[in-house]
Amino acid sequence: MVVSVFAPTNIALIKYWGKRDSQLNLPFTGSFSMTLSDLGTETQIQNAQADHFFLNDIEFFSDSSEFKRVFQVVDHFRKRFDLSEKLEIVSTNNFPTAAGLASSASGMAALVFGLNEFFGLNLSKKEMSIIARQGSGSASRSFWGGFVRWNKGTEKDGGDSFAEQLFDERHFRELRMIVNVVSSEKKAVSSREAMQGTVQTSELYQKWVEENDVMVEKAVEFVEKKDFLSLGKIVEENALFMHETMRNAKPPVDFLKKESWEIIDLVQKMRISGEAQGFVTMDAGPQVKILCLENDVKIFQERLSEFDFIEEQFICSVGSGPRVLN
Ligand code: PMV
Repeated sequence: MVVSVFAPTNIALIKYWGKRDSQLNLPFTGSFSMTLSDLGTETQIQNAQADHFFLNDIEFFSDSSEFKRVFQVVDHFRKRFDLSEKLEIVSTNNFPTAAGLASSASGMAALVFGLNEFFGLNLSKKEMSIIARQGSGSASRSFWGGFVRWNKGTEKDGGDSFAEQLFDERHFRELRMIVNVVSSEKKAVSSREAMQGTVQTSELYQKWVEENDVMVEKAVEFVEKKDFLSLGKIVEENALFMHETMRNAKPPVDFLKKESWEIIDLVQKMRISGEAQGFVTMDAGPQVKILCLENDVKIFQERLSEFDFIEEQFICSVGSGPRVLN
């Protein structure tokens, strides 16, 4: 039997940064994301003589961290549901992998969604969100379309730390995210290490924790009211605050490049001059995503075309959740 699925990626409007439990991936704060249309991971699962994992046509062997991460999740399923099958897992991302574009979110979500389908388990999305969270925090949010909140939870075993959809993909359809890839190189520091360094050594971390949940609440309200300018303002503020908090770690963590700042400057200048209303957000990598409304996409594309360092650009709308392909 072969099962083929697709899971979308999501970009946090209000970010998750820092774990209160790094084994279970339990966050210090909640986070809130938009599911992106088109960008994501396609994963095929089938029986095999031995376990194999391929990502973007490259086989990762059992001593690699990629293989271990995937088969840790498979082992969770095997143990919990008393299964013994060996599997070949073939995943393909339709965007740069491990460059701060949330490939781990769609990758983990596709894996968990695919295993649920392959083994015919009928798990709820809540259960899948909890399993995926342990592989990659942001993956907990990739099981739904639209706008999704990951609740931090308070239980020690993480039973109440899962995501939920607040508004589906028919809401706020005029919203766009322009994803600008300025470097598709794999990042030097993983988000896991960077988070740990920030939690342990950044003087700003306490402030981050105090403010983030309030920002989640506000952003949810702005999405509900479709108040684009208030939403954009808080989204940009949150992303810049996250990067400032990690730059304050010892040693500092800085995912942004000179090129990222050139895009950020342009977007801010265009906003001040009234040319177009866009707001930036950046994750654990140098890529800059611009949140804007449909009407302004063209002007941004025109102005961004002056930057020849942009390797790839994706115009995303609010996307739908994972689906079975076969
Ligand atoms: O899910 P992880 O461990 O790859 O961490 C993702 C962290 C950010 O992308 C920076 C923020 C977020 O909430 O997605």
